[in-house]
Amino acid sequence: MRIDVVTIFPGYLAPLREALLGRAIEAGLVELGVHDLRDWTHDVHQAVDDSPYGGGPGMVMRPQVWGEALDAVLGDAPARLVVPTPAGRPFTQATAQAWAGEERLVFACGRYEGIDQRVVDAYAQRMPVDEVSIGDYVLVGGEVAVLVMVEAVVRLLPGVLGNPVSAQEDSFSDGLLEGPAYTRPVSWRGLDVPDVLRSGNHAAIARWRRDRALERTAARRPDLLDALPDHALDRTDRAF
Ligand code: ADE
Repeated sequence: MRIDVVTIFPGYLAPLREALLGRAIEAGLVELGVHDLRDWTHDVHQAVDDSPYGGGPGMVMRPQVWGEALDAVLGDAPARLVVPTPAGRPFTQATAQAWAGEERLVFACGRYEGIDQRVVDAYAQRMPVDEVSIGDYVLVGGEVAVLVMVEAVVRLLPGVLGNPVSAQEDSFSDGLLEGPAYTRPVSWRGLDVPDVLRSGNHAAIARWRRDRALERTAARRPDLLDALPDHALDRTDRAF
């Protein structure tokens, strides 16, 4: 997979080269390009924003500079363009899974009050474009959202996680939150690891894990339980 990010703060994306993602890049599983939007400005001030039509606070990022930058970064190869914005559709594990199947993702990081809407509208005429939000809160720009989304996508690529079963058993992959996990010692500060996990009874362990996942989801994210299709629950599950 090839990932490009266009931003006015390239340094913000440095963590993409650390740890798991850094190793994925070194191993050639992911190619990453981070581009400074100001490289496509032509004035001495390297201005990327201007005041909004219709008035109001804040500044809007200018379409010309974004157009030149995206034309250069996109080239002719097919890609999906992603624009992080609090006004976007929610980014979820399902989005990460879908994007993990793409050849190429290009992220356009907006700052200020966002990017002139014509940029999204123009590129949407020739390629898939997603305006996405990572949650119901407002960040100062799209860069941190890109860190979040790229990490969620890259860990799903074949060969990136040491143990691919971890990705299959993630929270959300079966529509439920993952239950609690324990390691040695058996007893710590008066708290014990649940006996069933040390029983060696795989069916009982699977049932216990499923029950804890259901219990936790019901308590913390009842919206996820409500959204589960009927066939996702077995008879024992329905007690929750
Ligand atoms: N930019 C600012 N806030 C954001 C959010 N919640 N998600 C994605 N991009 C953003």
